[in-house]
Amino acid sequence: MNEQLQLFLNETKYLVEEHLIESIKALQAPASLKDAMIYSLKAGGKRIRPLLLLATLQGFNQPVEKGLDVACSIEMIHTYSLIHDDLPAMDDDDLRRGKPTNHKVFGEATAILAGDALLTHSFERMSMVDLPPAQVIRLIRELSIASGPIGMIGGQVLDMEGEDRALTLEELSSIHEHKTGDLLSYSIVAGAIIAGAKEVDIFHLRHFAYDLGLLFQIKDDLLDIEGDEALIGKPVGSDSENNKSTYPHLLGVDGARTKLDEHYRFALSSLEKVKMDTEYLELLTTYIMERNH
Ligand code: IPE
Ligand code: IPE
Ligand code: MG
Ligand code: MG
Ligand code: MG
Repeated sequence: MNEQLQLFLNETKYLVEEHLIESIKALQAPASLKDAMIYSLKAGGKRIRPLLLLATLQGFNQPVEKGLDVACSIEMIHTYSLIHDDLPAMDDDDLRRGKPTNHKVFGEATAILAGDALLTHSFERMSMVDLPPAQVIRLIRELSIASGPIGMIGGQVLDMEGEDRALTLEELSSIHEHKTGDLLSYSIVAGAIIAGAKEVDIFHLRHFAYDLGLLFQIKDDLLDIEGDEALIGKPVGSDSENNKSTYPHLLGVDGARTKLDEHYRFALSSLEKVKMDTEYLELLTTYIMERNH
């Protein structure tokens, strides 16, 4: 990985992780619930969504500290979505971020509630962000849309309903766009909103994020086939066990790789249109495309 990006990743990851755990520890909530929440938050993870937000802020010459609370809220929502995604009623997976899944350790009821708690607490934190009220309301509204019924949850439902069925490429890309792309996209847009970016720049960033989201999930689907379990920290072969339609399933591994390249090129060409320093976002895009975990 590029050395400069590695430095940025290490520094911001540390900031985010410290902030994330401290905020849960400080809650006056049942210890067993906090343990389950912290278990999954602490389990590792690439922290891609916070990094995208902070890299966007940085590209608009803003201090990363300004986006820390929103970045942590997004990571809480992402972590809750993984806890629920792994449940027996959904993907029924036993390994996540290199550790036994939340329900394996704490039981299904606590895992469901830890997910619920991360989701609701995330919005409490969003409401306390130290920014002008109009900006805070926009950030909350866009997060609700990205993670709710017409965003991530809608995508997860279509993903479940698509099991055991042959999907068209359009159906599949729409599932990917919502189940994965919308929250990634929000992370970038949130960075731009916090930075007070112009609407025209937010418009081009949304286009960039659309292709980034698809490329992220196509890569995730490829890793489910050819990844190394010890590196990706989750079971290889989960998609085929659940009869999921994926890009490699539909187009073959080479066809999926071709699509990956296509979205990579589209993403970078949208990024060129944004008036900001795009260096870290470019580096992150390449990292997402080339990652092995
Ligand atoms: C996994 O997301 C779930 C998808 C949306 C594909 P990540 O690959 O970002 O998972 P972590 O946070 O690094 O564990
Ligand atoms: C999950 O997609 C997306 C969300 C959790 C919203 P996957 O089911 O492909 O994610 P992994 O492979 O389990 O991380
Ligand atoms: Mg799933
Ligand atoms: Mg899954
Ligand atoms: Mg997957």
